[in-house]
Amino acid sequence: MNKTSDIIEDKDAKIFYNHQEKVPQHVGIIMDGNGRWAKKRNLPRTLGHRAGVNAIREVIKTASNIGVKYLTLYAFSTENWKRSTDEVSALMKLLIEYLKKEVSELHKNNVKINTIGDLTKFPKAVSAEIDRAKELTKNNEGLCVNIALNYGSRDEMVRCVKNIAEKLLSEALEMKDIDENLIKIHLDTGDCPDPDLLIRTSGEYRLSNFLLWQVAYTELWFSDVYWPDFTGAHLLEAIEDFKNRQRRYGGA
Ligand code: IPE
Ligand code: IPE
Ligand code: MG
Repeated sequence: MNKTSDIIEDKDAKIFYNHQEKVPQHVGIIMDGNGRWAKKRNLPRTLGHRAGVNAIREVIKTASNIGVKYLTLYAFSTENWKRSTDEVSALMKLLIEYLKKEVSELHKNNVKINTIGDLTKFPKAVSAEIDRAKELTKNNEGLCVNIALNYGSRDEMVRCVKNIAEKLLSEALEMKDIDENLIKIHLDTGDCPDPDLLIRTSGEYRLSNFLLWQVAYTELWFSDVYWPDFTGAHLLEAIEDFKNRQRRYGGA
């Protein structure tokens, strides 16, 4: 590959980016702080979520431009049902609206939409829209965006164990087949490599039940920025930092 043509400019971030440098293959993001962003402006929380959608658009564009292969976005956790019915239904409406409005553009950009999490708990209107987005983009070979919806790592592990147990009972699997790789492929992220980089916004330093198995050797990056203020430039900043990390995986 020609080195010069490999250097692209992210127009919004005003940063030159060299494709040949170590780009993380898989980036996970805990998109947090929509509510506090709104509160700071005396706005309802739902407007914070709405503002958060703009950040999603920008981050997908930047990740796709620089050649990230998988982007896993934590959008709704198994614990987020604890919120008021107003907030939960506003989030559902926003998700439908987002998919309706943006999927054709994502499709044009060769983005593949995928989800992780238990979709059986969603209203039909939501799951139908998700299915449509996945179907339309299923053959795309650009950035794969995994949207984590009704996702919780512990719930994912329970579903994984049940799935494996059923296969043991039906003798499709034997005890000796159970190893780390078997577990990996029975998780919702079965087709993806583990995240190389995990970003959490809003100044919180916890995982909140996100990809607990998968982040065993992931590099972590925390930002104080509330999610709606997160830009492509912030993503590039995290990736620059990632490039300077030394990953040892327990080796010397
Ligand atoms: C993240 O922002 C979005 C979701 C969890 C759906 P929050 O809604 O958690 O915002 P804060 O943490 O209350 O500021
Ligand atoms: C994590 O954020 C879930 C999402 C970003 C979707 P939360 O706001 O739900 O996490 P906690 O409650 O602060 O740990
Ligand atoms: Mg939060």
